[in-house]
Order: sequence, then structure tokens, then C-alpha cells
Amino acid sequence: MNLILFGPPGAGKGTQSAFLVSRNNMRQISTGDLFREAMSKQTALGKRAKEFVDAGKLVPDEVVIGMVDEVLEKLNGQSFILDGFPRTVPQAEALAALLQKRNLSIGRVIFLEVPRSELLKRLTGRRICTKCGSVYHVESKPTKTAGICDACGGEVVQRKDDKEDVIQTRLEAYDKSTAPVKDFYKKTGQSVEVDGTGEAEDVFSRIRSQIG
Ligand code: AP5
Repeated sequence: MNLILFGPPGAGKGTQSAFLVSRNNMRQISTGDLFREAMSKQTALGKRAKEFVDAGKLVPDEVVIGMVDEVLEKLNGQSFILDGFPRTVPQAEALAALLQKRNLSIGRVIFLEVPRSELLKRLTGRRICTKCGSVYHVESKPTKTAGICDACGGEVVQRKDDKEDVIQTRLEAYDKSTAPVKDFYKKTGQSVEVDGTGEAEDVFSRIRSQIG
């Protein structure tokens, strides 16, 4: 089954995608990760995306849709999780067309529900590995050695867009452009709301009970 993990910044989309990937042999398609990778390699896509990502603004729809189209093209039948896409109603409409042309479908759209005060704590405390992308949190999931990734020994840093002023811009972009996508999927009857609070493993159990 193919899934969309939907939720505001910090809701736990990346964390839950990692569980799904390791336990269900699914492919994670995170548009945020793809942009960060392109930015670190300084590709044309990365240079185009950088000004938007660093400022907490949405990358233009046509850029994101083209990137997702290329990834879907190379899937070879593997089930996938869309993490951070679609994020606008035009992206949701474009996704429907991209899936239709490949005879693919989405089984469930999981809305991760987390209160805003908790989102702020998660985002300001998040740290990521610059080498393998592992995600940590200074309080709920600290590294064993400060600044060093447990998984690969890489450097662990704060994302540029996890500074408080940029977080505000991201949350505003969510309210204005992304929240309406919920109604789009409520109408299709594929969506389920999942409580995204509590231990990450408990959130994963709730997701699993929704997807079987
Ligand atoms: P992206 O990387 O997708 O950012 P986001 O949607 O803001 O999501 P986050 O990665 O911040 O949060 P998450 O929900 O994955 O939470 P996580 O699991 O890490 O996008 C970045 C930028 O790229 C955008 O701002 C935009 O510029 C651009 N972009 C991307 N997609 C786009 C699109 N489709 N259109 C246009 N532009 C696009 O968890 C957060 C923290 O909380 C971690 O520290 C984690 O350890 C902790 N945590 C997780 N779960 C729990 C739990 N249950 N309890 C306690 N702590 C927890």
C-alpha cells in the first residue's frame, strides 16, 4: 500500500517514515530531504530551492512536482511513502494525475495531529546528521556523544530552518497553503487522523493499526 504522511512541520513525518521503511520495505519520498541533498550537492535544483528552504517558504509547485515525477518514474513497483508532498492543493491535483498515468494509487493519507506548542519544542530541539540524515532531539532523543551521530559518526547540527523565526514562517506557510490539502483528501475518503503525540513507537502502532 502506498501512503501519504501529512502534517505540519515537526509532526513526526520523517520519524514515522523511518519506522515504515525499516519494517515494511517501503521507499520514503521526502521532498524536504531531496531538496537538502540537492542543496548540499549544489545542483541546479539545489541552487533554485535554497532561497525558499532556508527562508522557510514553499518551493514553487512546478519545481516540486517535476522532482516527484522523476522519483516516481524510478520506483520499479516498490511501495512508497510520500513525506512532505503534496503541500498545496495544486500539488495534490498534480499528484493525482502523476499516479493515474502510472496506474498507481494511494491507500491511506495519514494526518498526524500534534498541538502547536509541542511542534515548537520538537523543531527547536531537533538535530540532524549532516552525513546520513539521522534525526535526533536534544531532549527526547539525544546523541550518546554531543554533536556526533550514533549511527555513522557524522556531525550532528541544527537545520538552518529550525531557527525560531524561520519556524514561524514555515508554520504560516502550513496554515495558509498546506492545511487546505486536508479537505482535498477528506473528500476522497482516503484520510485518517492519527494522534501524533506520546512516544514515537506508540504513534507508529497507531499508524500500523490504520494500515493493517
Ligand atoms: P521538510 O523537511 O519536509 O520539513 P517539514 O514538513 O517542515 O517537516 P519536518 O522535517 O520539519 O518535520 P517532520 O514532520 O518530518 O518531523 P520529524 O520526524 O523530523 O521541508 C523543508 C522545506 O523544504 C520546506 O520548508 C520547503 O521549503 C521545502 N519543501 C519540502 N517539501 C515541499 C513541497 N512539497 N512543496 C514546497 N516546498 C517544499 O520530527 C521533528 C522532531 O521531533 C525530531 O527531533 C524528532 O526526533 C522529534 N519527534 C518525532 N516524533 C516525536 C514524538 N512522538 N515525541 C517526541 N519527539 C518526537
